[in-house]
Order: sequence, then structure tokens, then C-alpha cells
Amino acid sequence: MSVEQVPVQRADFDQVMVPNYAPAAFIPVRGQGSRVWDQSGRELVDFSGGIAVNVLGHAHPALVGALTEQANKLWHVSNVFTNEPALRLAKKLVDATFAERVFFCNSGAEANEAAFKLARRVAHDLYGTEKYQIVAALNSFHGRTLFTVSVGGQPKYSEGFGPKITGITHVPYNDLQALKAAVSDKTCAVVLEPIQGEGGVLPAELEYLQGARKLCDEHNALLVFDEVQSGMGRSGHLFAYMHYGVTPDILSSAKSIGGGFPMAAMLTTEKLAKHLSVGVHGTTYGGNPLACAVGEAVIDVVNTPQVLAGVNAKHELFKARLQKIGQQYGVFSQVRGMGLLIGCVLTDAWKGKAKEFFNAAEHEGVMILQAGPDVVRFAPSLVIEDADINEGLDRFERAVAKLTKA
Ligand SMILES: Cc1ncc(COP(=O)(O)O)c(C=O)c1O
Repeated sequence: MSVEQVPVQRADFDQVMVPNYAPAAFIPVRGQGSRVWDQSGRELVDFSGGIAVNVLGHAHPALVGALTEQANKLWHVSNVFTNEPALRLAKKLVDATFAERVFFCNSGAEANEAAFKLARRVAHDLYGTEKYQIVAALNSFHGRTLFTVSVGGQPKYSEGFGPKITGITHVPYNDLQALKAAVSDKTCAVVLEPIQGEGGVLPAELEYLQGARKLCDEHNALLVFDEVQSGMGRSGHLFAYMHYGVTPDILSSAKSIGGGFPMAAMLTTEKLAKHLSVGVHGTTYGGNPLACAVGEAVIDVVNTPQVLAGVNAKHELFKARLQKIGQQYGVFSQVRGMGLLIGCVLTDAWKGKAKEFFNAAEHEGVMILQAGPDVVRFAPSLVIEDADINEGLDRFERAVAKLTKA
């Protein structure tokens, strides 16, 4: 028996949805690889990847296969029981990273919530009630729960909801002296994105992360890397910390880890994990068999030399062309980022107008992203075909040409 589908349009959004989003004027209905089709049959090149989520594009056969196979077996059992896909995926993550223990959840915010709660719990158990300060970066983004907006360094997301979580200090990113001044023996954790994503696609400097690691060790604080956006291959390494050679104590992963199926994970060591003993933290859906079956297929495909090397080669393709467009039309002062997380910083003349680039690109049939008002962001599939990159950038260039002419 099929479910009756009533016709819907973009205008319905404003009638039935909470107005916290302002989605584009069209509704995507189908995706294949790095192409998407809307209700009218119009085809677009997808450089947005569902905000750095669809690491393997749309309808990748390995992911579709894993999901449908699991859908016919077992959907959900809760954490009153464990399940095979969750255990297999956890083993793969442990084998591939610094981590010895995994906690599964459903979103980046939840992975960070778990990370921050673990950091405070460890300090509480080992050092008492006074060690709870968290040092985080200005302009950082860690999610939308009250704890994660409080740790995030963007007041526009944390203000207006009553008292925030206290005990959090924000310092300028990539400023080691400021970090040194903020960290003390009362610090339980330093929280950083190795590449600030929403804050403008800004990679950390090596000395900064090395310095953060040293400060944490000196003050018995934990180093937490939020790799929700930079992780699972997007940087050209499985996780960005591997590029820097700086190992965190706790790492949060989401977005790409499920390739488009909602899932997330917090990774840590055995020594720290034991502080989350039975009943201390939890979630109904975390480690759901459907999500973990897809996650397994994602890591199997992504964590291969071909895919990771491909990310770096595709980065060069994007960068060379975007720099050229930036120069020719005077729109970008810098093209930065790592792997397939690329940010084009707008010149003074175009500052604040990233949304206009988004709209112009959409009109030419290419989906892109902003990272704040001053940066145009690209986060495509890691296996996007070179032909799609070229076609999408042709369309993007036409959009920039029209925008600058207007
Ligand atoms: C670095 C980072 N952390 C956390 C989050 C929150 O993830 P989610 O929206 O899945 O809760 C995001 C989302 O953009 C992010 O980029």
C-alpha cells in the first residue's frame, strides 16, 4: 500500500513550517551523484553537499545498498540492546583513529553536547567542583542546543534564550597568546574546530593547535576538536587532526559520517570514556542500525587512498579556477580552506553580499553555500566528477559575470 502524496509547493513552507529557515525558491526532488533536479525538472550542479554532508553525493550505490539491505533486516532496537552495524562501525572508527571508544548520537550538536559533558564530568570526577571552565574560540560554531550555542563564539545564536551555560571563555581564533592567557588550572577543556566552518572556512595554524595541545597537557585540561564539518575525508585526510599531527582527547563527528543519513559520533580514549558510566548520558536513537549501516559504507568508501587523494586533486581544480574568477571579476580577496571545504573571501566591495552570490548561482543552475555574510563556501561530494566541477564552475562564473555587471 502506498502513502497518498498530496501536491506541495514552496509557498506551503510559510503556511506550515516554523519560520526559522528561509529555503530557496525551488524544491529539490531527486539527486544523482553531484546533480540535483527540482520539481520542474530543472537540473542543478550540487556544490553545497547538503552543507558538507553528502560526502559521496546523492544516491551513491554503496550507501543505497547498505541502507536498503539494513531496512529489510532491522530498523531500531534502542540502546537497551546493541546491534551489529553499530559495533562494526565503532570498530572501524577505532581502527582508523586515535580513539578507543565511540558514543553514537544523531547530530553535530549532540556529539558536542556529549563531548562537553564528558570533559566536565572527567574534571569533576578527578579534580573536584572548581574545574569546569571551557575555553573556546570567537566566531566558532558548535550547534544549536543551549550548551553548544553557549560554547559557540557567535552571540547572535546564544542571546535571547535566558541564562546561558556559564563558565565559558571565548578567545580570538589562531591567537596562541590569547589562548595562553585564558587557560588555567580551572580549565577542563579547550574546544576548537581545526577548520572553522560556519565562521568563514578558516583553517587553524599548525603552531596554534600544537600550542593548544601543550597548554591542555600543562593544565590537565582536555583538548576537544569539533570535526563535525572538517571530518570524514572533507579535509583530504580522514580527520583534519591527522593533517596537523595534533591529537585531541575528544573528537566530535557528524555531517559526512552519515553521508546524508542523520548520525554523529563522539570519539575518545578508554581512560576518559569510563567517566560516562551506565546511565550518565544517553540517547534513544544513537547507534541506530540504519544510520550505522550507512556509516559503515561511508567510511569503507571514503577512507581509501583513491578517494582521499582525489579530494586533494579536486581541491586544486576548484582553487585554480576560483582564484581566476576572483581576479577577473574583482570579487575574492582570498580562496582558502582544505580539501573540499573551500571558502572564497569577498573583497571589500562585495563584503556582506555572500547571499547575492548564492542567489545568482542558483539562477545559473549551481548550488553553493555561504559561510557568514562575507564568504562564499563550496562543500561538494568528495567523489564529484571533474566534468561536474568544470560545468558547475562554468555556471558559477556566468553567475559572477552577471552579478558584477548588474
Ligand atoms: C563545526 C560544527 N559543529 C557543530 C555543528 C552542528 O551540527 P548539527 O547541525 O548536525 O547539530 C555544525 C553544523 O554546521 C558545525 O559546522
